[in-house]
Amino acid sequence: MKNLFPLILCLFLFTGHIQANDGYKLWLDYQPIEHAELEQTVSELFSGIYFYGENPSYDIIQKELELASQGFLNKMPSYSSERFQGANLWVGTREELSQFLGLEHQAKIKALGEEGYWRGTIIHEGKNYYALIGNSPVATLYATFDFLKSIQSNTFDGSIEKSDFQKVKLRMLNHWDNLDRTVERGYSGFSIWDWHRLPGYVDPRYIDYARANASLGINAVSLTNVNANAWILREDFVEKVKVLADIFRPYGIQVFLTARFSAPIEMGNLETADPLDKQVQNFWKERVDMIYEAIPDFGGFLVKANSEGQPGPHEYGRNHAEGANMLADALSPHGGIVIWRAFVYSHEIDEDRHKQANLEFEPLDGKFQDNVIVQVKNGAIDFQPREPFHPLFGAVKETNLGMEFQITQEYLGQATQLVYLGTMWEEILQSKTYRPTASNTVAGIIDGSDSKQNLTLMAGVSNIGTDRNWTGHLFGQSNWYAFGQLAWDPDRSAEEVSEEWIKLTFGQKAEVHSKIKEIMLTSHEAAVNYMTPLGLHHLMGRSHHYGPGPWVEGGRADWTSLYYHRADSLGIGFDRTETGSGALEQYASEISQKWTNPKQTPEKFLLWFHHLPWDYEMQSGNTLWEEIGLHYDGGVKTAREMRTQWRQLENQIDSARFSHVDQLLGIQIEEAEWWRNSSLLYFQTFADRPFPESIEKPEGDLEFYKQQRFPFAPGIRPNW
Ligand code: GCU
Repeated sequence: MKNLFPLILCLFLFTGHIQANDGYKLWLDYQPIEHAELEQTVSELFSGIYFYGENPSYDIIQKELELASQGFLNKMPSYSSERFQGANLWVGTREELSQFLGLEHQAKIKALGEEGYWRGTIIHEGKNYYALIGNSPVATLYATFDFLKSIQSNTFDGSIEKSDFQKVKLRMLNHWDNLDRTVERGYSGFSIWDWHRLPGYVDPRYIDYARANASLGINAVSLTNVNANAWILREDFVEKVKVLADIFRPYGIQVFLTARFSAPIEMGNLETADPLDKQVQNFWKERVDMIYEAIPDFGGFLVKANSEGQPGPHEYGRNHAEGANMLADALSPHGGIVIWRAFVYSHEIDEDRHKQANLEFEPLDGKFQDNVIVQVKNGAIDFQPREPFHPLFGAVKETNLGMEFQITQEYLGQATQLVYLGTMWEEILQSKTYRPTASNTVAGIIDGSDSKQNLTLMAGVSNIGTDRNWTGHLFGQSNWYAFGQLAWDPDRSAEEVSEEWIKLTFGQKAEVHSKIKEIMLTSHEAAVNYMTPLGLHHLMGRSHHYGPGPWVEGGRADWTSLYYHRADSLGIGFDRTETGSGALEQYASEISQKWTNPKQTPEKFLLWFHHLPWDYEMQSGNTLWEEIGLHYDGGVKTAREMRTQWRQLENQIDSARFSHVDQLLGIQIEEAEWWRNSSLLYFQTFADRPFPESIEKPEGDLEFYKQQRFPFAPGIRPNW
């Protein structure tokens, strides 16, 4: 008998590795099925898989079913070469399976659109076949992922039909990844795009990245930083991009690049980048043709122009529409599009930066080509812990508007703190804009149901990097997940999405579910409370945006924390009513008229729109000063409670993930205390009032908190 020791050792090490869950597998961790009945059903289905055709997306489905079968059942699936004999699970498109679908059923599936799918049981000659049917091969892949999720979360039921379709056309990740692999505002390692070794070396991560995105229905990705480097448009870089595009294609993912507006000067040897200049137009046309030669389904360009020092059409006296349309003209023969960002902050403007996007874009309504989408951040300032929705939503009628959320937690504790963003995004998406019609919501504009725009987009600034668990903090994965699900359907409930993610990530135990759900659903409010409660904003340290810096002055007049909170001996807050900057008037009158009165402004936005005396009476009967104290203190208490809850799960979660989250929660509590103590001590210097009785008194002295604490925080962008 051969010596089995090395084999046993190997198995032992391998098993040990699985138990030490490092989070790499994300929500696609197919664990053994625990329920005997479900195991039996799945085992039967996987013992006779029949594909109705051949194409690259089906190859991917096959691989995914194999992975799942090994995980669920610890065996490989078997395939049937014949659709009836020995087949139990059918995989195909609506057209391929048309003979088994009645006309009405076919029409129903067709109505779900190119990416829509149906799954359910088809009975043929007395035998049941479970079918995964998409309107396209990629939609069939979506059906497959949904089917696998239902098994993983123990909800699969062969007698129930399910159909679904995308509500938003482009569901897109924006990577702020630089060509040197640093990631602007990235907190989970370096960029996963290994430009140096591409095109020759294909990192297996590219495939796992594509799988994860496809499992959520994410169908577009912009690979490079919006603060763009023109080199990505060079032929040798396009060769590298082509490799990624080829990998992503069968997963239904289209590739976009960021275009630096001054590229004609930097790489075309031209003296201008004026969008109305013939040579400039030719430069872009030639670049675009070259890209499409390599990547026939290239998506188009994402552009940050005339913002924070980036070049743009204003240098030549042209407006955003003229700049965007020039690129749109180059792309449209190939079916490409331009995504033009509305995040415009110029150095010069010293009035309320809240107003700048509306001031620049409203007059251009109707002037953008059809293949242009204006991508708008969720709020008018900059991904703050909480913002009211951006007033551009609803203010234009003939411009395609897309949403830009930030998945990477630049202002929300980065990859150190547990903050589930689903609830924040839901709050934005469900906000009523009252324009153009009374029932309009932000979601209705984004998915076109209210705005009637055909080209729809939801983008999320990615939180992905080379860290083994992809997102730095394990719970960062829930934000990637929630983004994908809300992009697929902006009306989905954030709570439901959190439940789904927990089941896929942590399995079936009821206590694990309820505790983690509680942690997730309270986490955003907690962070808002200990960072910027009651509508305060932009109080963080200048460059890193991580810890508190309400005292930070210097630099540009419109970029200081003092500019935003405006605390003085009389009160605190930013007056954006007509007695102040007037930014409130950029909203529909239903909002602006109501919120001009602080008593009718939701308290969560109070100091966003009003400068109020410290003794202003809040709904609770407390003074404003007291309420600020209670919110800061409440945030700290919730952070502590999150850890208490987590610790009760110690024996129910594998030790690697338990300890990872536990340690980070420890840091989160310290940070929450730091935020509370420093902010309250600082604001007290203006308020000159005692702290409310019921709160824990901030310790230490302000000077101590003012020291530079995070000089080398990751993800900081280069100075501009
Ligand atoms: C924020 C962020 C920058 C980023 C900018 C943008 O200001 O701090 O790093 O470049 O947003 O969205 O363009």
